[in-house]
This record gives sequence, structure tokens and C-alpha cells, in this order.
Amino acid sequence: MISTGTIKIKDDEFVELKDIIYKNAAIAFADSKKYLIENRLSKRLQELNFSSFKDYIYYLKYDPKKREEMEVLLNQVTINETYFLRERAQMDHMIKNIIPDLLAKGKKSLRIWSAACSSGEEPYSIAILLNEAGLFNKMNIEILATDINTEVLGIAQKGLYRTISFRGVPPAVQQKYFTKDGFTFKIDPMIMSKIKFFQGNLLSPMIGSKVGRLDVIFCRNVLIYFDIPAKQKVIETFHKALGVPGALYLGHSETLNKISDSFKMENFGGGIIYRKG
Ligand SMILES: C[S@@+](CC[C@H](N)C(=O)[O-])C[C@H]1O[C@@H](n2cnc3c(N)ncnc32)[C@H](O)[C@@H]1O
Repeated sequence: MISTGTIKIKDDEFVELKDIIYKNAAIAFADSKKYLIENRLSKRLQELNFSSFKDYIYYLKYDPKKREEMEVLLNQVTINETYFLRERAQMDHMIKNIIPDLLAKGKKSLRIWSAACSSGEEPYSIAILLNEAGLFNKMNIEILATDINTEVLGIAQKGLYRTISFRGVPPAVQQKYFTKDGFTFKIDPMIMSKIKFFQGNLLSPMIGSKVGRLDVIFCRNVLIYFDIPAKQKVIETFHKALGVPGALYLGHSETLNKISDSFKMENFGGGIIYRKG
């Protein structure tokens, strides 16, 4: 009989599963995170009637449904923590410095990529601040937002949020851009229409052609889960995708130190911008 508690993962199974996750999403799990895998995946194993991780790994490797299961697995193991106006200083910097410079050079269109957007709070925050600054009337702006996790992308596409996503959001902004719907808040359809969401693995060789040429990339709070070779690969993709001039914003705890020297680093007080060109 299958137990309803946590299924323990053996050391060799953990090594193999970690390797599968790394090869598919570049997420590197430390040995101390064994409990996290057990906690997050035990329910899934039980749904599939497996009593051991050995059976689950076999399923992931050889079952005809292995592709679909990989999506389920990655949806379970990614960390999707995010909220509206997180690390806002970088968004303000783009609006007050990067975009005015581009406008002054006569640029009429702008493409922004929120790479690893989780449930959408980051790209929606960018769109709200662009709207507050009246920039949608001055330029043709396209915002792309991608994530590997299809479950969080579903939330983003519905645009429905709970109170927890609004920590730090001024009430006036929340009232202006969201409509209360029971226990959730629905994003303004006009803001929603500014963003194209789609699934994308930052490590996929196809990601660059999927997003095309960009002016600004926000890739925040995801590189911390990658090891150095994976970070280098992603940064190379960003460098190729950005036009000149191009701007890259990483999370506050992330850096290109020892990863890449192809960008010019600039500290603007509220954070760091990596510039191309
Ligand atoms: C902590 S959230 C960051 C969300 C947002 N950028 C922010 O700073 O608030 C990290 C996101 O990275 C995504 N992610 C992890 N590995 C990825 C990969 N290989 N490709 C694309 N997205 C990935 C996760 O699904 C998760 O939604």
C-alpha cells in the first residue's frame, strides 16, 4: 500500500534526479536540499502510484509521457517567489535614464524582456510604471515575459493576484490598476494587453530566436539558482539578444563578476545596470 506521508529519496536517487533537473532547467540543488525534493515531489509520486523515487526516475526517463512529466516536475521544483514593484529602483532607472536617452536618439520602439517572470508581477509592474510615466503614448513598447514554469505563467495570464503580491505597493496604485474580485485582485486589461507571456527555458538554444532583438532585459532572482557554466550560457544569450545600446538588470544579490566581462557595469545608486554598447 502507498503511504500518504513523505517518500524518502535515497542518495543515489537524489544524485540522479538532481542531474535530470540540472540538464533540463540548469537549477543546481545542493545536497542539503534533499528534504525539499522529498516534500515537493512525494504527492506527485503518490498520484502516480509510485512508492519510490527509483520508479519515478524510470518514468521520467522512459515513459511515453516523459515530456509532460518533465513539465510537472519543473513546475514543482522551481522557486517562484515574487511580488509587485520588487526592486523597483531598477524599473525607475530604466524609465528615468534609459528610455529618455533612447527617445533623445529618435528611437520610436522599445522591446523589454522579463526573463523568468514567475507569476507576472515583474512585467506587470514594469507596464504600470511605464503607463504612469506616459511612455506608451510616446513609443511603441512591447514587453515579453517568459518563465519555464507553466503553472505560474497560467497565473500571469489570468492576471489574478492575492494580497501577498501587493506588499510594498502604494494603495493608490493598487486601486488604480486592480479590481477586487472576491479574495483576489484582477489586473487592468489595458496593462495586461501590453505583455506577451510565453513559456521559455533560459537554457534552451531556441530562446534567443523566440524573443528576438531587445533593448532591455530584466532577469532577476533566477541566476542565483544556476551554477557558473549555466550563468555564463544565459548571459551570452542575453548579450546576443540585446541591441546597442542595451541594458541588463539582474537581481540585487546577483552579479556578473567572474561570469562575463562583455557588459559595462554601472552602479546608479539604487542598484546596478549592465550595459551593452
Ligand atoms: C524567484 S522567481 C523570480 C521572479 C521575478 N523575476 C522576480 O525577481 O521577482 C525565479 C523564476 O525563475 C524561473 N526559472 C527557474 N529556472 C528557469 C529556467 N531554466 N528558465 C526559465 N525560467 C526559470 C522559475 O520558474 C521562477 O518563476
